[in-house]
Amino acid sequence: MALSEKENMAPPRHIAIIMDGNGRWAKKRGLPRTAGHAAGAESFRRIANYCRTLGVEYLTVYAFSTENWKRSQEEVAGIMRLLRRYLEEALRDMDKNRVCFRFFGDLTRLSPELQKLCRDAQMRSEEYDVQVNFCLNYGGRDEIVHAAKLFAQDVAAGKRKPEDLTEALLSTYLYSADVPDPELIIRPSGEQRTSNFLLWQSAYSEYVFMDVLWPDFCEKDLDAAIEEYHRRNRRFGGT
Ligand code: IPE
Ligand code: IPE
Ligand code: MG
Repeated sequence: MALSEKENMAPPRHIAIIMDGNGRWAKKRGLPRTAGHAAGAESFRRIANYCRTLGVEYLTVYAFSTENWKRSQEEVAGIMRLLRRYLEEALRDMDKNRVCFRFFGDLTRLSPELQKLCRDAQMRSEEYDVQVNFCLNYGGRDEIVHAAKLFAQDVAAGKRKPEDLTEALLSTYLYSADVPDPELIIRPSGEQRTSNFLLWQSAYSEYVFMDVLWPDFCEKDLDAAIEEYHRRNRRFGGT
């Protein structure tokens, strides 16, 4: 491939992934759903590393939605345990991995222990440049409502006027403030819906839906999604 061609194939700056299909992966193997989530966590480690190798600046992953509390207590506890283990490991290896962590979502519903791990991970990694945004107890609608409340509070406090509100200003109240919108959103597992992910930020994102289950998702699948992204003709409402 010619160098210029390779440059044109540079990965998007910001990739977002709906990490879906863990349950079906486990079911196919006669394993408990939690085993699927453990395999999904491995997949995340692999893909986050690969994104760093490729030079992706922001990786946003949907790890737990505001709707996922509907699942059994056992499954929710299993997911929370995996998150805790991952964050403890991330904190231990922080200086080696040099990844900056951010968390999108209403963390107040998480255990105090997990909240503290999230706070520590975010605080201790502020200086690093490759950024992973973890969506935890995240919902796109919840994020917009939360932003609206913050803006209303600023109005009530006399810091803002209702007529100040613009799209750009509202963006600064979102969990994703300061993060550019994702160019590419990938959903593995064969489902073709957003499930309340990045509703505001995805206005002009390219969606790539793939049949592979998240625990099976590997480097070549990410390559394929990026290639598909490059084949798209992004018009942003123009011609
Ligand atoms: C995604 O996998 C992980 C979470 C939602 C936490 P699922 O658990 O939704 O897997 P499927 O969709 O049931 O296969
Ligand atoms: C979306 O997947 C949430 C995460 C991957 C964390 P779900 O499995 O919860 O979505 P639905 O139920 O298929 O819409
Ligand atoms: Mg699912």
